[in-house]
Amino acid sequence: MTNSQTPSEDEKLRKEVEQTFHHGPDKFNQNAFSHIKHVIGVVSGKGGVGKSLVCGLLACELSARKTKVAILDADITGPSIPKMFGLSGARIVVDPQREMMIPAPSAHGIKIVSTNLVLEHETDPVLWRGPILMGVLRQFWEEVEWGDVDYLLIDMPPGTGDVALTVFQQIPLDGIVIVTSPQDLVQMVVTKAVNMAQQMKVPVYGLIENMSYLVCPDCGRRIEPFGPSQLTKAAHQAGVEALGELPIDPALAASCDAGTIEDAAPKGLLSAAVDCIIETCAASDATKSS
Ligand SMILES: Nc1ncnc2c1ncn2[C@@H]1O[C@H](COP(=O)(O)OP(=O)(O)OP(=O)(O)O)[C@@H](O)[C@H]1O
Ligand SMILES: [Mg+2]
Repeated sequence: MTNSQTPSEDEKLRKEVEQTFHHGPDKFNQNAFSHIKHVIGVVSGKGGVGKSLVCGLLACELSARKTKVAILDADITGPSIPKMFGLSGARIVVDPQREMMIPAPSAHGIKIVSTNLVLEHETDPVLWRGPILMGVLRQFWEEVEWGDVDYLLIDMPPGTGDVALTVFQQIPLDGIVIVTSPQDLVQMVVTKAVNMAQQMKVPVYGLIENMSYLVCPDCGRRIEPFGPSQLTKAAHQAGVEALGELPIDPALAASCDAGTIEDAAPKGLLSAAVDCIIETCAASDATKSS
């Protein structure tokens, strides 16, 4: 605040600060070329548990059900979605008249926006600090011509840092799915994510446990390398739904590396989670229109 401000300017600024303090910053605006019906975040309290894989699989399953799907890769410094969908080396096109970015389409038509699609080389490191990262996120929301989208999935960066907080505060999330793995600290990690969502007043659809087990290639027996699944217990203690478990599947990992997840992902792998997303979004549509 400077000495040259008038009392009414002081008052206006004070009100703005109070508003931000109590209600958080304003939401990002949806532009005239984007009609996004539902936004779902894929979150976890820690890194490397398989958020991006789950985000990719949810997108494939939603798209297989003939819905219009998009992915906003909010892991600005560590993006992994383009490679998974065979878009390594692809670039986002900018519409010169509207000055809007056009998402890159996957082979099956999933619209994707990611830092790796704007960098010259996908191996370029992203050395940006918080305010720039948040600016990029704003551009990915406000300056992209998303078109008609039924479900926009957001692949979140790990943890609860600046970008995750900005997604929670400024993007109108319908709900989040939490991804975990059956290791130590799972309860703490899940509770942290649930508490963050509650503080931000964002509904939690439920919990998906990744790497729960693997199937022995010789005898078909279920092996639990990280110990027994903690899905039911962790979901119950956190007061959220258990939405399914995923096996460790080397073929799936190889398809992510090869960029063929859309064709390689077994159909129906996360069908309970997708049922929950579709039903909850339909119920919220019905409430809004009544
Ligand atoms: N169920 C699985 N079976 C086989 N490989 C998996 C499985 N889940 C994840 N992976 C592999 O583990 C690695 C990490 O997964 P992923 O990138 O999805 O994690 P993440 O939570 O998004 O990580 P980060 O926090 O860094 O964003 C990837 O190479 C992925 O292909
Ligand atoms: Mg990731």
